Amino acid sequence: MHVCFCFQFNDKAVKEALDEKDGSERVRTRDVHATCSGADRPNCGKCLGHIDELIQEHPVHGENHPKNRNKIIPTLNCG
Ligand code: FES
Repeated sequence: MHVCFCFQFNDKAVKEALDEKDGSERVRTRDVHATCSGADRPNCGKCLGHIDELIQEHPVHGENHPKNRNKIIPTLNCG
């Protein structure tokens, strides 16, 4: 499924980027976008919410992982 239309990457690319991280540090949405796009910053930013959802669904980086419980999940401000 397409995630970012500006930079043309899909959910598989996001999952692969997340799988490469060992879980020792909190994953930031914009860093995942940068890894997948090769760009310093998003263009329109419309994909950031979807990327954040994929992070939360990830077995290591998601909010249900034991290391992430009781942490405040930052909200996105794309506007
Ligand atoms: S859809 Fe990803 S930056 Fe526009």
